[in-house]
Amino acid sequence: MLTLHFRPWDVHDVAVLLSSALYVCHIAGAISIQSDLHSLIRSVQEDVFFSVNVTCRGIPTIQWTFISSSVRRSIGAWQPGGFTNITEDYSSRVQAHHNGSMGLSDLRLQDGGYYVVTVTDGTGNSKDAGFVLKVNEVLYEDLQYLSVSALALGCLAGLLMLGMWLTNKAYRRIAAWRRRKQMPENDVTELQPL
Ligand SMILES: *[C@@H]1O[C@H](CO)[C@@H](O)[C@H](O)[C@H]1NC(C)=O
Ligand SMILES: *[C@@H]1O[C@H](CO)[C@@H](O)[C@H](O)[C@H]1NC(C)=O
Repeated sequence: MLTLHFRPWDVHDVAVLLSSALYVCHIAGAISIQSDLHSLIRSVQEDVFFSVNVTCRGIPTIQWTFISSSVRRSIGAWQPGGFTNITEDYSSRVQAHHNGSMGLSDLRLQDGGYYVVTVTDGTGNSKDAGFVLKVNEVLYEDLQYLSVSALALGCLAGLLMLGMWLTNKAYRRIAAWRRRKQMPENDVTELQPL
């Protein structure tokens, strides 16, 4: 009797438990950070765009943090349609977007590292997403290498031309000297019979 009476209640309890668990999951998952690329490679002086689309209940607070092996610093925080607070070091290079995206321009070598976006909703729940940025100076080195090789080639061409000019001059001198040396003999030989 008792067991028969309780079984429906058990099922109901399970259903309530399940739905409340789903509800909790739904609340915890209320913040979403969508993004495609999490690993980016740029060169010095280029720009980078960390593209995300943030959604949550209420107005999100977006916070970007830079982390490298040696430092961890706040880049800035903002609310769509609300405040924007960018750290002084970054103020001229950072563009804050309503969907949480951040643009960083005029990259330096030291900008290479991890970028973490933290989204906090009105109830204090938060969620993170991370990006890796690699900043190359290869293009720069290539340019330097190119200009150095161009300079070396220019010098070589100059030396070759100087060498050719000197050889030409020396040849003319030798030829003139030979002519001069031969002339008196000729004169002598020509004069002798006279
Ligand atoms: C976020 O917004 C920016 C400009 O407003 C846009 O370029 C970018 O594609 C958006 N990102 C996503 C993931 O929707
Ligand atoms: C802006 O950010 C800096 C550093 O993160 C903080 O010290 C300052 O209180 C913030 N200002 C506002 C108005 O939120």
